[in-house]
Amino acid sequence: MSSYRIEGGRPLDGCLKVQGAKNSVLPILAATLLAPGQSTIHNCPDLSDVSATLDILALLGCRVDREGDTVTVDASVLTRAGIPDRLMREMRSSVIFLGALLARLGTAELSYPGGCELGPRPIDLHLAALRTLGAEIREEQGCLRCRGNGNMRGRELCLSMPSVGATENAMLAACGCPGVTAIVGAAREPEIVDLQNFLRAMGAEVTGAGGSVICVRGGRSLHPAEYRVVGDRIAAATYLCAAGAAGGRVELTGVEPGHLTAVLTCLEQAGCAVHTGPEALSLECCAPLKGIAPVRTAPYPGFPTDAQALLMAALAGGEGTTMFVENIFDSRYRHVDELCRMGADIQVAGRVAVVTGVGKLHGAAVRSTDLRGGAALVVAGLGAEGVTTVSGLRHIRRGYDGLDRGLRALGARIWEE
Ligand code: EPZ
Repeated sequence: MSSYRIEGGRPLDGCLKVQGAKNSVLPILAATLLAPGQSTIHNCPDLSDVSATLDILALLGCRVDREGDTVTVDASVLTRAGIPDRLMREMRSSVIFLGALLARLGTAELSYPGGCELGPRPIDLHLAALRTLGAEIREEQGCLRCRGNGNMRGRELCLSMPSVGATENAMLAACGCPGVTAIVGAAREPEIVDLQNFLRAMGAEVTGAGGSVICVRGGRSLHPAEYRVVGDRIAAATYLCAAGAAGGRVELTGVEPGHLTAVLTCLEQAGCAVHTGPEALSLECCAPLKGIAPVRTAPYPGFPTDAQALLMAALAGGEGTTMFVENIFDSRYRHVDELCRMGADIQVAGRVAVVTGVGKLHGAAVRSTDLRGGAALVVAGLGAEGVTTVSGLRHIRRGYDGLDRGLRALGARIWEE
C-alpha cells in the first residue's frame, strides 16, 4: 500500500495554482444529464471521486472524455436510469444524480447511499425536497425507486437545515418541474453558486444562489454548455495550513480569497500575514502559530467543517490552546488519534476538541482515516521534526489532484513511496 514520505521541519516557499473545486465538479457533472448534447467542463481536477462520477455517467449511456483538465460529457442518449450498488458505495455523494435523472427521464433508481468515515450520512432532506416537488419515492430493500409520474411541478420547499447536497438535488430536479420552485433555507456555499452559473449557461432560469432562497423556473428544454469551475477553497485551505504548520511563504492562484474568509481569519489570528488579490492570495508564517478563539464549524460562510482537521493539525504544532466545536458531522475527529501519535496534545469530548500546541510535533507512521483527516496528517508532517509516513492514500486521492506534487511546488520534501 503506497504512502507519502515527508521530511518535516522545513519552511515552505513557492507559488501554486489551486485545482478546480471537487464539490463544484460533482454536481455540475450530474447537471450535464439535463440536456442532450455535449457539455465541456474546464478546470476539472483528476480525482478518484471525479473518475467515479464519470464512470456513472458512462454507465447511464453518456459519452465521456477527458483531456488534461477538460472533461466532455455527451448526454444525448441515456440508456438507463439506475446506478448500481457498487458504484453508489464507491461514492455516496452520487445521490446527487437523483435530481438530474428525475428531471431528464422522470425516473431514477439507486441504492441507498451508505454512511462514510464521517458518520451516518442521511438523505432525508433530499427525499423530502423531491417529494415536495411531486416525486413518488419508494424505499425498498435498500433501493430508492423514484418516479415523477408527470406530477413534478414547481413548488416552494423548505430545507430544515442548509444541506449542500439536498440544495443541489432540489435545484437539479426543479429544472425538470414546470413552474417556479423556491428553495427556502438553501445552502450558500460557493459551489452552489457555481452550479447555478452552469445551469444558467445551459439556459436554465436560476437565481438566488449564494443566498438562502434559490428560485428555479423549470420545465424548459436546456442545451449543453461549456463552463470553467471555480478553484477549490478547501484544497487552498490545505496549502495555507501547511504553510502555517511548516512556516515560510506560499502564494496561491486560481482561487477566490472571498471563498475562504473564515479560514484566513483564523490563520491571521494565529499570527500569519495574509495578502489577497483577484483569484490569488499569499500567506507568510514566521513564528509558531498561537492559540486562537474557539473554532466552531458551521454552514457557509461559517468556518468550513472540511477545514477543521487541517487547521487543527497546524495549531497542534504551535503554541497556545484552541477549542474546536464540530457542529456539522458526528464523527469528524478520527484524525485526532493519529495526530497524537505525532506528539499532539488534543482532548476530545463529544463535538468539542481542545488542542494545546506542543511547540513541535515529531514524525511518525500514521494512517489516513478520511479525506481531510488524511490531508491533515500531511500538514502535521510538514511541520514535524523528522520523517512522517502517511498511508491510506486512497482517501486523499478522492479530493486532491496530486497533493504531494502541489506541496513539492511549494518547497516541501514529500514523495510517494
Ligand atoms: C457536502 O456534503 C460536501 N460534499 C462535504 O465535503 C462537506 O463536508 C459538506 O457538504 C458540508 O459542507 C460534496 O459537496 C460532494 P450536507 P453533503 O448535506 O452535501 C446532515 C469533502 O471533504 N444531513 O451539507 O453530504 C448531514 O448528516 C466532503 O469534500 C441530514 O441530516 O453535506 C450533515 O450532518 C466531506 N440529512 C449535515 O446535514 C440530509 O438529507 C451537512 O450535510 C442531508 C444532510
